[in-house]
Amino acid sequence: MMDHGATMKILVTGAMGGVGRSVLDGLLRKQVAVRALSRHPEKLQVPDGVEKAIGDLNEPETLKGAFDGVNAVFLYAQGKNLPALMENMKRAGVEYVVFLSTIDATNEHDYAQHNRQRHLAVENAIAAAGFHYTFLRPGAFVEESIVRIPYPDAQQAPIDEPDIAAVAVSAFLSRSLDAQAIVLTGPQSLTQRQQVECISNAVGRPIRMETISEEQARAWLATIIPPGYVTLLVSQWRDEVGVTAQVTDAVERVTGRPATTYADWVKRYAKVFHKP
Ligand SMILES: NC(=O)c1ccc[n+]([C@@H]2O[C@H](COP(=O)([O-])OP(=O)(O)OC[C@H]3O[C@@H](n4cnc5c(N)ncnc54)[C@H](OP(=O)(O)O)[C@@H]3O)[C@@H](O)[C@H]2O)c1
Repeated sequence: MMDHGATMKILVTGAMGGVGRSVLDGLLRKQVAVRALSRHPEKLQVPDGVEKAIGDLNEPETLKGAFDGVNAVFLYAQGKNLPALMENMKRAGVEYVVFLSTIDATNEHDYAQHNRQRHLAVENAIAAAGFHYTFLRPGAFVEESIVRIPYPDAQQAPIDEPDIAAVAVSAFLSRSLDAQAIVLTGPQSLTQRQQVECISNAVGRPIRMETISEEQARAWLATIIPPGYVTLLVSQWRDEVGVTAQVTDAVERVTGRPATTYADWVKRYAKVFHKP
């Protein structure tokens, strides 16, 4: 398979984000020229030799210069002015976009509609602008695990962020995923109860899982996520009870290695879970 890395310069948006940081590191390991974008100069810590760009995807006028000399972009789902954002990328000569979308792009449930529309708007803008593209549509990330939950029997197939990043890196280097929208999941559907059991096994002590009411969950969630998402998330968990989560083999198919299991992810972070 041809290695396109040598001829590319890639702007990684969200370069300090969970997935973006892994994409940046993965591309650097392959000696690909990268530029890292953040809105916050003080937060943007990158290895020597990595170019930095400061700007806000929601305010395309702040991105002047960010796309200069760049022919591919790893893009997060931000873009309150999508036409201007697409125009900026086009004018700079960007050809290929790997977009961090969501599995909700395929989800017909009411609770998913806000997320679905937000991500589809960006997908559609990218395709309509005529870029080559790959849309990554991951399911729930592993780090979303919690132990005070209203629906312990809700099921997810949590995916490890570096697995999403590995698919993105492979997309940039091989260019064999053009025009694909790929649903990415972890390797197993697990109830939240089973996820907590995994953590419990890894740290070698029981972890008490508290089943809370929807009302309590809403009140707690309102302290950590925007109000618009609280109802959506709680409704999603309610709908996921007793329903096996979708599992795809895309991570293994693209990267050639199996997706990280929840148990292995927990082992990697066992030290963190050991903290009181
Ligand atoms: N969590 C899940 O279970 C899940 C499931 C499916 C899909 N997703 C998708 O993945 C995303 C979360 O990924 P993550 O965990 O890597 O996120 P994260 O760690 O919260 O990082 C988000 C990144 O986005 C950047 N960003 C946010 N708004 C921006 C803006 N207006 N302009 C420029 N950059 C902006 C931030 O950059 P700075 O703050 O440095 O500017 C930050 O680095 C979700 O938003 C969703 O699209 C998530």
